[in-house]
Amino acid sequence: MNKLNIAIVGLGNIGSYLFKYLNENKNILTEKNNCIPVVNYVAAKNKKKKRIIKIKKNQWLKNYLDATKHKDVDLIVELIGGAEGPAKRLVFEALKNKKHVVTANKALIAKYGDELAKIAEKNKVNLEFEAAVCGGVPIVRSLKESLIANKISKIYGIFNGTSNYILSSMEKHNKSFNEVLSDAKKLGYAEANPIADLNGDDVSAKLKILSSLCFNSFLNHKIYVEGIKDIDKEDIDNANKLGYKIKLLGYAELMNSKVYQRVHPTLIKKSSYVASIDGVLNAVIIDGKPVGRSTLQGEGAGPAATTSALVSDISSILRGNIKFPFSLSQKERKKLPFDNISNRLFSAYLRLEVIDKPGILSSITNIFSKYKVSIKRLVQNPKKENKLSSIIIITHQAKNDNLINIIKKIVGKNYLKKKPKLIRIDEN
Ligand SMILES: NC(=O)c1ccc[n+]([C@@H]2O[C@H](COP(=O)([O-])OP(=O)(O)OC[C@H]3O[C@@H](n4cnc5c(N)ncnc54)[C@H](OP(=O)(O)O)[C@@H]3O)[C@@H](O)[C@H]2O)c1
Repeated sequence: MNKLNIAIVGLGNIGSYLFKYLNENKNILTEKNNCIPVVNYVAAKNKKKKRIIKIKKNQWLKNYLDATKHKDVDLIVELIGGAEGPAKRLVFEALKNKKHVVTANKALIAKYGDELAKIAEKNKVNLEFEAAVCGGVPIVRSLKESLIANKISKIYGIFNGTSNYILSSMEKHNKSFNEVLSDAKKLGYAEANPIADLNGDDVSAKLKILSSLCFNSFLNHKIYVEGIKDIDKEDIDNANKLGYKIKLLGYAELMNSKVYQRVHPTLIKKSSYVASIDGVLNAVIIDGKPVGRSTLQGEGAGPAATTSALVSDISSILRGNIKFPFSLSQKERKKLPFDNISNRLFSAYLRLEVIDKPGILSSITNIFSKYKVSIKRLVQNPKKENKLSSIIIITHQAKNDNLINIIKKIVGKNYLKKKPKLIRIDEN
């Protein structure tokens, strides 16, 4: 029987778990794939570090880049992380030297995926990245294979478990953003430096990869990104009273032959499927023809779920499926026009904290009519103790730029006491 020689580079949370899994499940993987997976080598930054796995002396590579040169390496699993530095060097070298690559690195694929795919195609090797998008949710392979018949018009959902955990816990446990973030760190749901999870960059990288797969296009960096750092408990409570939940959602849509990519906190109806996804789970919704709407849900991160995705990619290579990384040959991928969201229509929630004085409400509504934004609902909550008033406005659909201009105009007014909030609404 054939065997596939593997090197795992990076033995942190994910690499250690994968190493153990491959050792313990070698027989079943061999039976299922008719090829034996053999981990010949591993590499990490610090060989002396205490690890949960037992590594034989002769399995350690002297230098991680040696994996790209050894004859007895067919596949390199890159689990270092980061778009630059050693991960980038390793994956470029590996593909140039005709080694297959499996990676969980969304930052690298979102930034250099097109260049890497070109080299992989030229050298007839695989570049697989199921684990880079939504951990254990098998969305990449679903788009490349199971949904191949479809013309996809939209993909959206919850692509970051940490931010979803924070938003749903703020609601459930009546806690502030900072309190919940500190809980999330203690429970291991948030990294020590969770900035990419909170500012939307993590979702942005995943969404770029997904929209490229959905629309057969090259990766595109035109994307609107806003994270959850400014969401207050008060916004969550207001949304709740109005029949919504707040979720950090990523959207890629094909509208009038243009692609729009956006990541932002969104008010979504409590009755919707997405609103029911709480905690660290991820959910991906795809609209396609002829399939209609499909939904995938599951664990978006963590060693177990991520290993499930990595082993799916490794198995594909064990079976000898040499495929184009983004499903199509580079020649067939399109340069679709991507547009920013300036002219896209949204209804929105605005919260304005103002001095409670006569005349202010009419000043605000005048600004709305100046920018042709009509108000669907307005709620005023006086806060008598400090002579302030919280004004909550739900708008009808209006151009994104007009909504932004309203905020800019109001920011200059001396009756405004706090940075105004604008959260887009998804009425579906
Ligand atoms: N954690 C998750 O839940 C999750 C989910 C999906 C995808 N991912 C992705 O999976 C990848 C790995 O994540 P992780 O959580 O396992 O990270 P991690 O725990 O920080 O592990 C990183 C590993 O890379 C090694 N490393 C760093 N610099 C190196 C170098 N110059 N040469 C060789 N090895 C080097 C480190 O070595 P030492 O051990 O010696 O320090 C460590 O073993 C990332 O791309 C991440 O985005 C993670």
